[in-house]
Amino acid sequence: MDTPTVIETKDLSKEYDHQVAVDHLTFSIREGEIFGFLGPNGAGKTTTLLMLLGLTRPSKGSALVCGLDPMRKAKEVKRRVGYLPENVGFYGDLDAVESLEYVASLNGIRGTEARGKIEELLELVGLSEDARKKVGAFSRGMKQRLGIAEVLLKDPEVLFLDEPTLGLDPEGAVRLIDLISQLNQERNISVLLSSHHLHQVQKISHRVGIMITGKMVAMGSIESLAKEKLGLGGREYSLEEIYMKYFPEV
Ligand SMILES: Nc1ncnc2c1ncn2[C@@H]1O[C@H](COP(=O)(O)OP(=O)(O)OP(=O)(O)O)[C@@H](O)[C@H]1O
Ligand SMILES: [Mg+2]
Repeated sequence: MDTPTVIETKDLSKEYDHQVAVDHLTFSIREGEIFGFLGPNGAGKTTTLLMLLGLTRPSKGSALVCGLDPMRKAKEVKRRVGYLPENVGFYGDLDAVESLEYVASLNGIRGTEARGKIEELLELVGLSEDARKKVGAFSRGMKQRLGIAEVLLKDPEVLFLDEPTLGLDPEGAVRLIDLISQLNQERNISVLLSSHHLHQVQKISHRVGIMITGKMVAMGSIESLAKEKLGLGGREYSLEEIYMKYFPEV
């Protein structure tokens, strides 16, 4: 039997004030897949994620996330999908543990279970030593790691990560990318990873999609896109090289 899909869209479209942001997007992601979601600034990636989460209403088309319509079952979708937005917000006065306790309580996780999970997640994202530091005093990278810990609290089946490594130092970025890969392999979490860091995407994605002005202009394994666009015969290639083939030469 085929692996089930966790995300499926058909002609999904969004217009803002008569300006098309997402244009008849049809694609799917299978369970256990890491999908690299690429495209220039303003291509429509974040808008797509927001529609998949039921946070903004499509102008046209449909979507299913974990088999659910995000507009009708937004709460259920949010329970099953961990979303790390472009700009993660925190209460600066809380420390890392308190922040996670707050998110845990919102998700109905309390007491010993919450304490155990929080300790495990702080360890996983490398924040154990900063557990009692106020989040207001966290660096950007530390906030990003805390954001990841937050989305993992509810044991999501799917992760939507919007530029998760933006602003991280090189070591932090490598660790986070490795962590995403680890979560995918050990917990079979499917990942929709939007990023401009193509070498990071290349390292862990099973497939990628390139969105330009609201349309998915390419989709497939990096190897298949390399064959198609570079016509390679076994030589080394980078995702950046493939990506640039979708833009007119200047
Ligand atoms: N709330 C909004 N109101 C009006 N237009 C919007 C809104 N949000 C996004 N847009 C427009 O929709 C288009 C797609 O934006 P979106 O944020 O989805 O792009 P993106 O691919 O995530 O870009 P980036 O790589 O810069 O994050 C852009 O033209 C943007 O100006
Ligand atoms: Mg965006």
